[in-house]
Amino acid sequence: MGASDAGGSSGGDGRHDAALPVIDVSPLTGAGSAGEVAGQVSADQAAVARQIQEACRDYGFFYVTGHGVPAALMSDLAAASAEFFALPAADKMEIAMAHGGRAWRGYFPVGGELTSGRPDLKEGLYFGTELPADDPRVVAGLPLHGANLFPRRVPAMRQLVLSYLDAMTGLGQAVLAGVALSLGLDGGYFAAGYTAEPTILFRIFHYPASPPGTADWGVGEHTDYGLITVLAQDDSGGLQVATADGWIDAPPIPGTFVCNIGDMLDKLTGGWYRSTPHRVRNLSGHGRFSFPFFLDPGFAAEVPPLPDLASVGDDGRPRWDGADLRAFTGSYGDYLLGKVSKVFPQLRRDVLT
Ligand code: OGA
Ligand code: NI
Repeated sequence: MGASDAGGSSGGDGRHDAALPVIDVSPLTGAGSAGEVAGQVSADQAAVARQIQEACRDYGFFYVTGHGVPAALMSDLAAASAEFFALPAADKMEIAMAHGGRAWRGYFPVGGELTSGRPDLKEGLYFGTELPADDPRVVAGLPLHGANLFPRRVPAMRQLVLSYLDAMTGLGQAVLAGVALSLGLDGGYFAAGYTAEPTILFRIFHYPASPPGTADWGVGEHTDYGLITVLAQDDSGGLQVATADGWIDAPPIPGTFVCNIGDMLDKLTGGWYRSTPHRVRNLSGHGRFSFPFFLDPGFAAEVPPLPDLASVGDDGRPRWDGADLRAFTGSYGDYLLGKVSKVFPQLRRDVLT
């Protein structure tokens, strides 16, 4: 499918009729390419990198096709997710996040997560890299590291989530190889550095239908925290992306993933690539499922700006939340914990203090 088929919908509420680009990333994901992006760059890979650069400069968002993720994996995961969220509340609460302890895994009910201080109209499952209890990071009590909580009532979920994490890690690394090329870096720049031991978070969200005319956001305006997000969404719609000209829709396109860049890529590029605010309101009249996967720097990594790009500077536009990413100098783990404890204040009290 070409970019012209992506079909932005015209909004009657001030949204604009622009379409986010659709990029065929098969030159980055195709057989044998993953390791080789680090060496000789093919003409096709260079062309993909140019499209990624344009998309990151214009929107910070793009769709990917040619990703190689099996459709059956996606549909099986979607079916298991529907089964889980349809369970009685007590069954879902068996794996409530409170049972995940410092690893911050498990289920949270509607209203359990805040964006910009307001409860979101969504329920969800939090997953991450599956680490055994004797992993040194778990032994050391590093927050957000540990074992996942899987639902007893949906036994298929465990293997599906673990397979999906593998598939998304591969795709995310391939897209990051394209991002590296787009910045004039070696294709293996991220895989050899920031994402050699990545921080991986994965969520499955269920957004109940928002009643028309209410101000309830499924997830309020925000940017993502790390390097890159790879999102699968069902056919409900409702994801919106901020552009220089206002909000546009990121409608579902079957067989694609939505990729967007996060705060660490913004910081790394000194604002040359901006992490883009987005939000969700589910007006479909039925439940909406989405599957955001986050491929982020290792917990201990600091992310100073690349010298060449820092000298170019950003476009001078203030960030949506008024924050100055350049002023933050700690590790990615520090940044992430600061963010996560704002969206889960109860867990901050229970776990981090
Ligand atoms: C997120 C997010 C969008 C969606 O999890 O950061 O923006 O469609 N999700 O669920
Ligand atoms: Ni997001």
